[in-house]
Amino acid sequence: MYLAYYNLNKHPFTISPDPGFLYLSEAHREGLAHLTYGVTHRKGFVVITGEVGTGKTTLIHTLLTKIPQEVRVAFVSNPTLSREDFFYLLAEAYQLGAVENKAKFLVRFSHFLEKAYERDENVVLIVDEAHCLSEDLLEEIRLLSNLETPNSKLINIILVGQPELDAKLQSPDLRPLKQRITLYYHLPSMGREETFQYVKNRLVRAGAMDLDIFSDKALGKIYEYTKGVPRLINILCDRCMLTGFVKNCRTIDDKLIEECAGELNIKDQKDTGGNNNEKSGRSEGRSCSWIYVVIIFVLAVAGFLIVWLERTAE
Ligand SMILES: Nc1ncnc2c1ncn2[C@@H]1O[C@H](COP(=O)(O)OP(=O)(O)OP(=O)(O)O)[C@@H](O)[C@H]1O
Ligand SMILES: [Mg+2]
Repeated sequence: MYLAYYNLNKHPFTISPDPGFLYLSEAHREGLAHLTYGVTHRKGFVVITGEVGTGKTTLIHTLLTKIPQEVRVAFVSNPTLSREDFFYLLAEAYQLGAVENKAKFLVRFSHFLEKAYERDENVVLIVDEAHCLSEDLLEEIRLLSNLETPNSKLINIILVGQPELDAKLQSPDLRPLKQRITLYYHLPSMGREETFQYVKNRLVRAGAMDLDIFSDKALGKIYEYTKGVPRLINILCDRCMLTGFVKNCRTIDDKLIEECAGELNIKDQKDTGGNNNEKSGRSEGRSCSWIYVVIIFVLAVAGFLIVWLERTAE
């Protein structure tokens, strides 16, 4: 709706994980490096965790465009499956033909992996939302990772999920799986400067000539409300551009950000959690120092009185 008004040729703040809009913050760069290294060096098990909306799925899509070798990928994005469904899905993704049972699947799959290895193809299994995996399926996945040659893994497994995945992997029953994880990366949200760059990068990729659609103060507010979480940034910026268009504001200022964040019920991070604690911490510190001053003053007066009384008694 607002594309022509802001001179854009596509929507800058969609919420699909499109690598065409990729902005590599330091953390995204590092996460991608872990993934690329893990896959190209056949490291076996790689785990990526991160809070909701930080860009994990986007990294996976980006990885798939970057692997230099031929890859055979199975991408499981909804892992709340039964065992049978899981094997069915893998058989489909790797084109193994009809497999009636697990034994048949394993025979065909081992054969497929050996052939792929001979052809120097990289077989990758990616499980997104892996925090939703049942312990049973995690165990099945671990067993798949046992398929290997004496010097190399035949399959690369990437588990991607929210921080609950990490908690799940701490379970004593999953110790054997945890031990097999060769690379682990936790994706944090972006910093303030990176958030500004992220917004501008998306505008550029959407064809913007004017990169000051958001004023400097507005960018500061975007960071305060989203704390650098890309999906939140996209939702907030998209709403602001729509409202800006409706209200005929070519430049989006901090007031408009506040208004839209309120409508979207996104809380100002300054008014919650950390910073509040910081404030109350500081005021506690101030009242404590007053008490110390009073105590020192009382002790000094008492000391002076004692000395004075001793002298007058002499
Ligand atoms: N590095 C990035 N560059 C550009 N856009 C990004 C980046 N990271 C995330 N995004 C955008 O943020 C949104 C959320 O990203 P994504 O779906 O990858 O997050 P997620 O961590 O997988 O979220 P969830 O925990 O809900 O699965 C998407 O619109 C995506 O395009
Ligand atoms: Mg995701």
